[in-house]
Amino acid sequence: MLTTLKKVLAAADKGGYAVGAFNVNNLEIVQAVIETAVEKRSPVIIQTSEGAIEYAGMPFLIALIRTAAQAPVPVVMHLDHGKDLKVIKLAIDSGYTSVMFDGSLYKFAENVAKTKKVVGWAKPKGVSVEAEIGAIKGVEDLVSVSEKQAFFTDPAEAGRFVKATGCDALAISIGTAHGAYKSKTAPTLDIERLGKIDAAVKVPIVLHGASGISAELVAKTKNYCETLEDCSRLEGAVGIPDDQILAAIKHGVRKINIDSDLRIAFTAGLRETVVTDHKAIDPRKLLALSKKLMKEVVGHKMDLFGSTGKAKK
Ligand code: G3H
Ligand code: 13P
Ligand code: ZN
Repeated sequence: MLTTLKKVLAAADKGGYAVGAFNVNNLEIVQAVIETAVEKRSPVIIQTSEGAIEYAGMPFLIALIRTAAQAPVPVVMHLDHGKDLKVIKLAIDSGYTSVMFDGSLYKFAENVAKTKKVVGWAKPKGVSVEAEIGAIKGVEDLVSVSEKQAFFTDPAEAGRFVKATGCDALAISIGTAHGAYKSKTAPTLDIERLGKIDAAVKVPIVLHGASGISAELVAKTKNYCETLEDCSRLEGAVGIPDDQILAAIKHGVRKINIDSDLRIAFTAGLRETVVTDHKAIDPRKLLALSKKLMKEVVGHKMDLFGSTGKAKK
């Protein structure tokens, strides 16, 4: 059933677990996510970025997610990293049950003003709003750790931001990074800061850039594409370790965004199939292993986040 982010995260807050938010771009990713949610009896957030909308078109994505939401588990249809106010307004008017406004690169006052505008559009329609304060910077954006820390979310500012905007969930920066190549060494999340943010805000906290970057799947991918630049860059890539995800959940994180882990699973499956199966020309066969590996990723996350079994009957 289609529901809002606010409802799903309120239940997660009560139960002390987090709900996975998985980025989708096509049918097979949507199927992998929803089939696993049903098998695990887990609530799920299915999200599309502006890039996904550019790629597939909003009407196709809405139709896929609405169809997925006919399943007997709570499903949130969420816009990830909305930056273009026109796209956000269209998503609200087109049936998304939740939107993110990412104003993290604006100064405080402008971020507040734009977020308030989005809340003003969303609230009357019962649509939830995720906002962001503190930019999430990757290894490629900045050179030093201290430079990166300058963008971490300030707890007091986060408290003022939530009060001023009325947003339903808050994305923060505590040391994660977007993409498959996050870090050369295992990232250490600033859990102490997270605890302070949690105490300062009354809304659930969202962790972006949370993929674990499984060494096993990276090795599988590299087996079949080591000469390609993008794949060789995966060498030594380190994601967010499971124990840090658990610590983050303990300190108030209730929505966890995963895209890169799905991309790597998709790629590992597709490359292996293309290289080892010299007969297949049927797209359904070519994509079967990708879907299986993505389902394993989603299932692992649901168990790790504690959302398995939490869908109400
Ligand atoms: O955080 C961003 C997501 O991984 C979406 O990436 O904009 O390439 O679709 P994308
Ligand atoms: P990853 O790149 O770590 O999967 O993060 C995805 C994300 O934050 C989407 O908003
Ligand atoms: Zn993100």
